Amino acid sequence: MGGRGPSLPTSGPIDPNAQKGPGRGAHFSGKKKDDKRTRAEREAEALELKLRQPRSRAQQIATEYIQDEIGIVMLSEGVTVKELAEKCNRPAKDVVAKLLHRGIFATINQPLDTELAKEIAREFGYLADIVSFEEDVQMAQEEAGEIQGEKLSRPPVVTIMGHVDHGKTSLLDAIRHTKVAAGEAGGITQAIGAHHVDLKDPEGNDRQIVFIDTPGHEAFTKMRARGAKVTDVVILVVAADDGVMPQTIEAINHTKAADVPMIVAINKIDKGGANPDRVQQMLLQHSVQTEAYGGEVPAVPVSAKTKQGLDELLETILLVADLKDLKAVYDCPAAGSILEARVDRGRGPVATVLVQQGTLKAGEIFVAGATMGRVRAMFDDRGQKITEATPSMAVQILGFEEVPVSGDNFQVVEDEAKGRTIVGFRQEKARAAAQLKQRVTLENLFSTLKEGQIKELPLIIKADTSGSVESLVGSLEKLSTDKVRVRIIHAAAGTVNKNDVLLAEASSASIIAFSTKAEREAEDLAQEEGVDLRYHEIIYKVTEEITAAMVGLLDAVEKETIQGQAEVRQLFKVNKSMIAGSFVTEGKVQKPYRVRVKRGGDVLWDGTLKSLKRFKEDVHEVKNGLDCGIALDGFDDLKEGDILEFYTREKHAATSLA
Ligand code: GTP
Ligand code: MG
Repeated sequence: MGGRGPSLPTSGPIDPNAQKGPGRGAHFSGKKKDDKRTRAEREAEALELKLRQPRSRAQQIATEYIQDEIGIVMLSEGVTVKELAEKCNRPAKDVVAKLLHRGIFATINQPLDTELAKEIAREFGYLADIVSFEEDVQMAQEEAGEIQGEKLSRPPVVTIMGHVDHGKTSLLDAIRHTKVAAGEAGGITQAIGAHHVDLKDPEGNDRQIVFIDTPGHEAFTKMRARGAKVTDVVILVVAADDGVMPQTIEAINHTKAADVPMIVAINKIDKGGANPDRVQQMLLQHSVQTEAYGGEVPAVPVSAKTKQGLDELLETILLVADLKDLKAVYDCPAAGSILEARVDRGRGPVATVLVQQGTLKAGEIFVAGATMGRVRAMFDDRGQKITEATPSMAVQILGFEEVPVSGDNFQVVEDEAKGRTIVGFRQEKARAAAQLKQRVTLENLFSTLKEGQIKELPLIIKADTSGSVESLVGSLEKLSTDKVRVRIIHAAAGTVNKNDVLLAEASSASIIAFSTKAEREAEDLAQEEGVDLRYHEIIYKVTEEITAAMVGLLDAVEKETIQGQAEVRQLFKVNKSMIAGSFVTEGKVQKPYRVRVKRGGDVLWDGTLKSLKRFKEDVHEVKNGLDCGIALDGFDDLKEGDILEFYTREKHAATSLA
C-alpha cells in the first residue's frame, strides 16, 4: 500500500453482508496522508474499520472515494457544533473557529445547517454523508438491536388513481359498502381518505387491504404523487366508456416513477358505450401492457354500480401484493408518513398517519416534519378510538403541536429533547426560507412596479388541510400570465383568524377560505375593514373566480366608434367664442360626443363640444341633413370647409387573460 495511510478496509470491496458494526458514535473514519499519528495507531484503526462494517449509503460513497483515502463521517440533520467536532475528531473549539472565520458565532450546542456542516467537515478532511433525523433514529434503532425484531407480513396499501369522474370514489365505496361520494362537496374527493377493508382470500384466510383514495382533480396532482410514495399497489381506474384521459396518463407516469405494480380496473362496464377492449388498446399506446395483450398488468372489468367484478379485483390485489411479500417489523418505535392534516375546531391539529414500521401507541412522543407532539388520541378509519396502530394502518391522530404537512415523515422518538432540537432546527430553517421568499417577492414587486406593466392579485389562502393548501396554491399560481400575476401572500391550513385579516388589509389581499371557516372576530374585522373574504368548497370554482378577478385587473380595452360628420359652412363670433355653423353630412352629432377637427387630411384638434344649438336653442342631438351651431371646448381656429368628425370611445372590459 506504499505510503498511503491506512484508511478504509484495503482488502478490496467492502462486503455488505459482513456483520453489523457495534457503536455508531464513532462511525468509521479514515485519515488523510498528512496523518500525524503513529503507525501502530493507524493500523489499529484500520483493523477496527475492517471489523466494523459501514452502512450501505456510506459504503457506496466509501467505494467511490476509497482511492482518495478520504475519511467519511455520517452526520445527522441538524448536527450540533459539538457533535460535528466529535465526528471529525477535533476539539469543539476548532469547529467554533472555522465558523467564526465565516462570521458565524455559534455555541457548541447549536445545530448547523447541513451544507455548512458538510463544508466544515470537508475542511477537516472528511466527506460527510448527511442523513435525516428520521434515518438517524432508524439507524440508531438498528444498531441498538431494536429492529432485530421479526419481520411479519403486513397488509398491502393500495392507492386508487385515475381521471376525474372515472369512479375512484364510487369503486372504493362499493368495496366498503358505504356512501362517501354522495356527501362530498361538489362530488370531488378533496383529501386523501384511507380505509381498511377486511376480507378472506381464496384459501379462507383473514386478510386486510388498506385503500387510499386520491382525488382525481388536476389540482391534486401533488397529493396523488405522494399517494404513490406510500403505496404498494396502484389501481388505475379507467372508465370503459371514456378511455384513457389526461389524468389517466398522469397516473400511469406517477406509478411508473414510483415503481409500483399496477392493476387496471376498467370501470363502468355496465354502461352502454362501455368498451373494455378499446381501453386496453389505448393503454397499450401508453406502454401499459395488460395481460390480455401479452403484458403483465392485470386488468379487471368492474362496475362500481352493479358491483360486478369487485371480488376478482380484490383477489387480484392480494395476488399482486403477495408477490411483493410485504413485511414490516411490528415490535419497534413507529415510523410512517403523514397522509393528510388539518385543524379541527375544538380538537386542534388532526392528521392521518400511515404507519409503515413498528407499532404506534397512545401517549408516545413523535416528530413529524417541522412539528412534534404526543399521541393524545388515535382513531381508526371507522372513527373508533384505538390505542395501538400496526404497520399499514392509517390512523387519525390528535396531539400535534402544529399542523404537519402531508407527505412529511412521522417518527416516534424516545428522546424528547433531541426531537425538540430537531423540530426547532427545522422550523428555523423554514422561517429562513420563508424570509428569503419574501425578499424575492418584494424584489419582484419592485421590478414589476418599475415596469409598470404587470398587475398583481394578492391572495391569502386558508384551507382545511395542508394538502388542499398546496393544491390550491399550485393551481392558482399556474393562472399567472405575463400581464397579471397571482401573488400568494400567505397560505396555511386552519381557520381564518384575525392575523390573516390584518395581513390582508395591509396588503390589499383577498382571503380565500377553502373548506374552512373564519373565526368570529376575524369575520367581524373583515367586515369592518372591508377585507374581501370568500368561502369556497370546490377548487375549480376558486380558479374560475380568481381568473375572473384577474381579467378584471387588466386594463379595459378602449374602442372608438365614429358617430357622425359635419362640415363647417359659416363662422360666427358670439360672446368671444367661435360658433361654427355646420351641416351634418353623416350620422348624427350629440353634445357628449368627442370631436376631431380635420382639414385636408390633417387632424388639427381633438376634444369635446362646448355647445350644440339649433336656432339658438341648446339641443342634445342633431341628425344627418340638418344645420346646427357648434362651439368647441378650447379650439377657435376653425375655417370654413373644416370637417368635424364625431366619435365615442367606450371601455370594454378585458374578457380573457390572454
Ligand atoms: P373524482 O374524485 O372527482 O376524481 O371522481 P371519481 O373518480 O372519484 O368518480 P366518482 O366515484 O365520484 O364517480 C363519478 C361519477 O361516475 C358518479 O356520478 C358515479 O355515480 C358514476 N359512476 C362511478 N362508477 C360507475 C359505474 O361503475 N357505473 C356507472 N354507470 N356509473 C358510475
Ligand atoms: Mg372521488
